[in-house]
This record gives sequence, C-alpha cells and structure tokens, in this order.
Amino acid sequence: MNKISNSISGQLASLQGLDFLSSSDLNFDQMTALLDLAIQLKNNERRIDLGNRVLGLIFTKASTRTRVSFQVAMARLGGQTIDLNPQVSQLGRGEPLKDTARVMSRYCDVLAVRTFAQDELIDYANWASIPVINALTDLEHPCQMLADFMTIKESFGEIKGQTITYIGDGNNVANSLMICGAILGVNIRIASPKGFEPLSSVVQKANSLRQFDATITLSNDPVASIKGAQVIYTDVWASMGQEKEQIERKKVFKDFCVNEELLSQADKESIILHCLPAHRGEEITDAVLEGNSSRVFDQAENRLHVQQSLLCALLGGL
Ligand code: CP
Ligand code: NVA
Repeated sequence: MNKISNSISGQLASLQGLDFLSSSDLNFDQMTALLDLAIQLKNNERRIDLGNRVLGLIFTKASTRTRVSFQVAMARLGGQTIDLNPQVSQLGRGEPLKDTARVMSRYCDVLAVRTFAQDELIDYANWASIPVINALTDLEHPCQMLADFMTIKESFGEIKGQTITYIGDGNNVANSLMICGAILGVNIRIASPKGFEPLSSVVQKANSLRQFDATITLSNDPVASIKGAQVIYTDVWASMGQEKEQIERKKVFKDFCVNEELLSQADKESIILHCLPAHRGEEITDAVLEGNSSRVFDQAENRLHVQQSLLCALLGGL
C-alpha cells in the first residue's frame, strides 16, 4: 500500500478531535485532503485500521445511505457502530440530550447525529466530549457534499472553476452545496421557485467564504441557469419533516423538474447528480436518473469513501 503523502496527512491531522457540523468547518486544504484520501481508499491504494474504535449513530430521521455507509466505513476501518435508534433507546422516552451525549461519550469514540434542528446538533457537540458529525439537519448535509465533490473530481479531474446548477428547493443540500462550493472555488447557481430560495443568512455565509473568484447566483429560471453548467444537481421538493407540504409543493415546483427537455439546454458533457432518495417524475425523471449523464450511483457509493476518510481524520491514526 502506498504511504499517504505528508501534505494530506498534515491537513487531516489538523482535524483530529474536531466536530464536523457544517461544510464551513473545513477549509480548502482540509477538504482537498479528505477527497484525496477518499479516492486512495476507493482505489485500494490505501488501507487504514483505526483499531476497534466505535461510532455511535443517533438518527431521529430515516436514512439508508448515510446510516449504512457510516456502518460499512467503520467496519472497513476495523471498528464498530452502535445504532441508537431513539425508538429503542431512552432518548425516545425523553432522556435529556445532555445526559445522552455525555453517556455516549464514555462508550463511543465519535458520534454521527441526524436530526431536525441544527441547534440540537450543536447541543450534542457542546455536551459530548468526542467528535460529533452532522449526518443531516434541516440546515445542512455536509457529509453528502464531500461525496458530491469527490464525484465531480472523478468526472472532471478538477473541481475549482466548475459550475454547478442546483434546480429545486433551497434546502439543506442546497445550503451545503453553496458553502462547500464557495470554499472549493466552484460557481454555484441555485434555481428555485419564488419563496423557496435558500435562507439569506446561508447565502451571506457562503458569499463570505467564496474563494478563487467563485460566484453564487440565485434565480427563478431553471432554463437560463442550466446553460453552460458542468453539473446539474437536484433534490426532493419536500424534505423530511415537510411531508404535509408535499401536495402544495408539487404544484409550485412543477417547472423545476430535471427532465430531458430541460437537459436539452445543457452542455452535452454535463453530469447529473442527486443525493437520493429520488422522487421519479417530480424533481427528476426516470430517463434522466437512469441516463448516460447520471452519476448518482457513483455519488451514493462515494458516501462510503468520504466518510471513511472523515472518520480517519477526526479519530486520528493516519
Ligand atoms: N443522501 C442521503 O443522505 O440519503 P439517506 O437519507 O438515505 O441517508
Ligand atoms: N433534502 C433531503 C435530503 C435527503 C438526503 C431531506 O432533508 O429530506
């Protein structure tokens, strides 16, 4: 196995013991190092054994990819995962977060939390004495972003200077995309229906982090936004917790479907990303999701590699 380069290991060592609550917790060099290690792990150029460390998962929302990719990542690193589903733990019966976080810190080496409010995640991080990872909140989905930018790197070789058009709801995925893109020097265009743009506080934060002449553009016009972009990205119109709005949102978002007609306006070489799960026939058609430009299953696979890389960095041992 190749040795990891000093520059990658130096950047990753700077993350040891830290939380990963927002895409803004990483700088350009740290993100780049995480992606480089993830690619080495994927290509079997590197194998890492962290020595029986334990990851605790606290998920108050459903998950397939995030849950399983974290479990498999930990197994591949010679560790284990404890899944603390609130339905089967005292959390579901009202045990305070501050007690749960401190007790879990005595058993586990790292926690991944999926929940609704970002403030709840921050509370976990404040009470826990071990690193806490954002496994998705209403505000952000930073682990997803690492996989997305790894997929872009695999497709184009270079991340900096690319243009990503995100079509749909200004949600957690759009927020992390803006922040991560700004740090990595990527132009981000968000096309959403009026009233469904990303929060202005997040747009401001992303703007304050822009590097290498990256731009952030908001619009309500999917056709204009798609022209000249290398990456077309979409996500569900109603996120977890917004199920009651689903019918109303279907009407509002009907012109924001990534379908073949819309794609006819895009560059021939552009790729399609979707974090999944997808609602075929809503934000994306089956033909586009299954088409030649789609990289969604590589993107889903890459969750495993980037999270392995992230766990190595937060837990140390490189
Ligand atoms: N993309 C993603 O986070 O998928 P899950 O909800 O299945 O974890
Ligand atoms: N925006 C979606 C992402 C799911 C991975 C949600 O929060 O439900």
